[in-house]
Amino acid sequence: MKKPQDNTPDRLISPIERQGDDTLDLSLRPKTLGEYIGQERIKANLNITITAAKKREEPIEHVLLYGAPGLGKTTLAHVIANEIGANIRVTSGPAIEKSGDLAAILTNLEKGDILFIDEIHRLNKTVEEILYPAMEDYALDIIMGKGPTARTLRLDLPRFTIIGATTMASLLSAPLRDRFGITHHLNFYEIADIEKIIKRSAGILNIKIDATASEAIASRSRRTPRIANRLLKRVRDYCEVKGDGQITLADCLAAFKLLEVDELGLDLIDRRILETIVHKFKGGPVGLNTLAAATGEDMDTIENVYEPYLMQLGFLDRSPRGRMVTHLGYEHLGLRMPGTGSLV
Ligand code: ADE
Repeated sequence: MKKPQDNTPDRLISPIERQGDDTLDLSLRPKTLGEYIGQERIKANLNITITAAKKREEPIEHVLLYGAPGLGKTTLAHVIANEIGANIRVTSGPAIEKSGDLAAILTNLEKGDILFIDEIHRLNKTVEEILYPAMEDYALDIIMGKGPTARTLRLDLPRFTIIGATTMASLLSAPLRDRFGITHHLNFYEIADIEKIIKRSAGILNIKIDATASEAIASRSRRTPRIANRLLKRVRDYCEVKGDGQITLADCLAAFKLLEVDELGLDLIDRRILETIVHKFKGGPVGLNTLAAATGEDMDTIENVYEPYLMQLGFLDRSPRGRMVTHLGYEHLGLRMPGTGSLV
């Protein structure tokens, strides 16, 4: 069970949380569904769920949120808790090492509390098994003793809600997935919504920004709020040093040139991956391990960090024979695809 690894912690356009995002995220994080931008269908559904549960004076059902890193799963969990007026406890799959750790958390919950488990696909099997009766029957089964004399003691738990978050729903076991009454898939954001997020964040950070500047940041943010907010912060730094305090398009273009982030949000490594396939492997197909060796990146990072966005842009194809750069990928590099007459 793997989480997307990011072995490039200084990579500006990584969607994975990095040091320094924390403080930024906390102040910029929307607190209510009304403040939360984008994901309209999910918000509409959650609004019904929350309103109905409040009317019945019951906790909401367990919720599973899945989607790529940086899209706001944690933020949404806090918004849900805030809208319900519930306490939220935050933990993660890898942080709960033993069944006793989970038992301690569960027995400290109060009625209506929310337990947010990030990276829930990384729970180990024995811990997961404690979770089944806890989620289904609000009961904790404690096994006392060993061997033939072992006995099970059942403790009642208060009614609580688990909000689980995962980047990889397919890694969740079927029994765990089935225990979530509500599942929502967060999609990459519309560019227009990313622009709204950038304008909102600029307002909170007390920075003036031109409409063309927020557009330039949005188009480089890989449709991911976390990246948009991080790029905004870097452009703000640039502007404070080189500009006059108001972020203009010219500031953005100069800052991104310096940061080596291109107009679609690709950085040097993304481009190096495409160029390596084109120049060393005639555009592909090339196997992942060969590509890793040729680029000096590790396989896991290529597969889970770089490729998803390159594939989303339609620049890269994965086939059983390996990775291939597409017409669009060639075009982005300003190159002609072999076998085509034009600079497609
Ligand atoms: N900051 C990060 N994600 C956000 C979102 N979806 N709406 C508003 N602000 C955000």
